[in-house]
Amino acid sequence: MAYNDLREWIAALDRAGELRKIRTEADPILEIAEITDRVSKSSSEKFGKGGPALLFQNVKRHAESQLLINQFGSERRMRLALEVDSLDEIADRIRAFMDVKSPQGFLDKVKMLPMLAEMGKFFPKTVPTGACKEVIRREGFSLLDFPVLQCWPKDAGRFITLPCVITRDPKTGKRNVGMYRMQVYDERTTGMHWQRQKVAAEHYREALRTASQSGVPSKSASVDIMARSSGGAVLAEGARPSGKMEVAVAIGTDPALTFSAIVPAPPDVEEFIIAGFLRQKPVEIVKCETVDLEVPADAEIVLEGYVNLDELRVEGPFGDHTGFYSLEDLYPVFHVTCVTHRKNPIYATTIVGKPPMEDGWMGKAVERIFLPLMRLTIPELVDINLPLEGVFHNLMIVSIRKSYPGQARKVMNAIWSLGQAMFTKCILVVDEDVDVHDVGDVTLKVLNNIDPERDIQFTLGPIDSLDHASRLPNYGSKMGIDATRKWTSEGFARPWPDEIMMDNKTKTLVDSRWKAFAKELGIE
Ligand SMILES: Cc1cc2nc3c(=O)[nH]c(=O)nc-3n(C[C@H](O)[C@H](O)[C@H](O)COP(=O)(O)O)c2cc1C
Repeated sequence: MAYNDLREWIAALDRAGELRKIRTEADPILEIAEITDRVSKSSSEKFGKGGPALLFQNVKRHAESQLLINQFGSERRMRLALEVDSLDEIADRIRAFMDVKSPQGFLDKVKMLPMLAEMGKFFPKTVPTGACKEVIRREGFSLLDFPVLQCWPKDAGRFITLPCVITRDPKTGKRNVGMYRMQVYDERTTGMHWQRQKVAAEHYREALRTASQSGVPSKSASVDIMARSSGGAVLAEGARPSGKMEVAVAIGTDPALTFSAIVPAPPDVEEFIIAGFLRQKPVEIVKCETVDLEVPADAEIVLEGYVNLDELRVEGPFGDHTGFYSLEDLYPVFHVTCVTHRKNPIYATTIVGKPPMEDGWMGKAVERIFLPLMRLTIPELVDINLPLEGVFHNLMIVSIRKSYPGQARKVMNAIWSLGQAMFTKCILVVDEDVDVHDVGDVTLKVLNNIDPERDIQFTLGPIDSLDHASRLPNYGSKMGIDATRKWTSEGFARPWPDEIMMDNKTKTLVDSRWKAFAKELGIE
């Protein structure tokens, strides 16, 4: 059964022995981050890698608040969050939907009915009200009332790190839910860190286009500088029209929705539907009080407001999931017009930094779920691995079933053209017999199999906004390594050696006598 809200999820974590409640006072400025970092990097028999989820119940200066962190911080909890025994189950469900063929006759149509009924569960359901409206504050609220963390010493301030940011495409009316951090500037304003290539940034550009077509003049003199920023991003350089775009933010939702906000879905696929698919139950949404947007009805906290189209402000630095501070840059400013929340809201958050951390497990789930979707355009793809230390966008190891010369390079180019996979700085392509999850074996095969000058492919293109090494923000080079076995049809004339393997006869013989040998060797 789907978790209806964060509280049902916390109760499930507790029942599963995956939650620790902390009564000792802890400071949201740095201290909670340091505690969580240690827990994220711990490994124990009870919790495995990543430690338990943490519910801080005595947050310094916020005695009445509870703070949840590390809710997704292990493979086990990620499976619990998505209610599966294995993340591949979700991939299988996606595959089943993709396998649907046009019905040939009446019987085929009847067979499709259960699937159509299931699809009905995916769409969000608008309800008249919800728990997120228990307290409605149009006046006299302060963002500083919530126990927002400062995560790292050189962070520019306190950041809301696990928000579901809801926007609407001004042209099509389609909604988007994305996770973009928010630097709290003061009681009523925050930064809005949607990076240039993300869906909400495109909504913002669309709002700019609409406003500029309607001829609303700019109020700001520094528009040219703004136009060149990496964050908000604009039309062409030049006048920036005034106007607003409405935004709503939900903090503390059911786990499927929070996870959906990070899923790199195509812009037209609404995350409320993805969450509905994952939890197999519609997400219930309610209308906001002051903006024309809908939010999850039972969210712990909802911030309603707008970003001005002619206002950007310095955001960052922020200790990021790359293990470095992301540099400061100009981003839109979110003005909060109304806060609604549950009574005694639970503030959900996370920290990012050097891996392994909570977001790494979320990324691993995305990797598993996206494999069947990637195969739609890259059918030769056997498996992929994004090692945690590759921080999502720096390294992708892919194995392929190679059937024609140059296919590894075709695969690299396909990945670089695939949504957010375009950011992948280094792609390693290996043959299907290499286990991409065995990084030791991958290293052995890749480095043995390549002639670097021949097998490395460089290309130029969009780069992740967090990359600090590229020649320009958001633009730079990427590298693919073709570590597949080379064929004569690829111009390789030398013989290719066999990989060393013991023959089965000897293996069976030693298996049968292994107990005795092991005893003598002291390695039982
Ligand atoms: C904890 C966490 C924080 C994130 N913060 C940001 C952020 O500040 N800005 C951003 O553009 N993407 C951020 N991301 C990645 C986006 O959530 C991700 O790219 C998502 O697909 C964006 O949604 P969209 O495709 O609807 O734009 C973050 C991801 C996680 C897991």
